[in-house]
Amino acid sequence: MIVRIPALLEARPLAFIRERLALVNWEDGRITAGPEAAKVKHNDQLTEDHPLAKELGDVVLAALARSSLFTSAALPLKVFPPLFNRYTGGGHFGAHIDTAVRLTRQAPFRVRTDLSATLFLADPDSYDGGELVIEDTYGEQAVKLAAGDLLLYPATSLHEVRPVTRGGRLASFFWVQSMVRDDDNRRLLYEMDRALMQLRELHPEGHPALIRLTGSYHNLLRKWSDL
Ligand code: NI
Repeated sequence: MIVRIPALLEARPLAFIRERLALVNWEDGRITAGPEAAKVKHNDQLTEDHPLAKELGDVVLAALARSSLFTSAALPLKVFPPLFNRYTGGGHFGAHIDTAVRLTRQAPFRVRTDLSATLFLADPDSYDGGELVIEDTYGEQAVKLAAGDLLLYPATSLHEVRPVTRGGRLASFFWVQSMVRDDDNRRLLYEMDRALMQLRELHPEGHPALIRLTGSYHNLLRKWSDL
């Protein structure tokens, strides 16, 4: 399931992150790539150890914590500390699949990557290319979102970032270990949750069927979650 979360970052935190990143000394992105991915990765990155990565990552984590759409779609158990990258001058990241388990020096140390996340930080008309291309069951999806929008996609999918031929593509990227490991099960819960939200709006006074359906949602989550 590929989910767009519009305006995860509001204007003020977005501007704050962009101002800070404008002053940064970028490093070669290959330092966090596995041996296969390193062969196809050509971008700049802020390392996990950089004090700014922690400061800006916390801004992203705070926005995630406020987003009910993110919670509903990802059912997060652990979130890898957000990292930041930049593609300029033909920079690209060829087709690859993300590492299954990421190690971090911050607690909780190990994150199984069920979902990959890209938070777009540059205005799409400020750069050419740089689409995130994800292979899914409907074929290739090429995605380039507004600054502040988040894209969630299954970490099991083959994906690439097309070459940036003008300007710079800034993004934050991270991974989520979900309470519900299976992508199909997570999708069913997400669709059920959205339908329940619509029904609650139609029946603000409540309804006996809503009590049962909400109970079924929680009983499925109980059945499928591993913590
Ligand atoms: Ni990747």
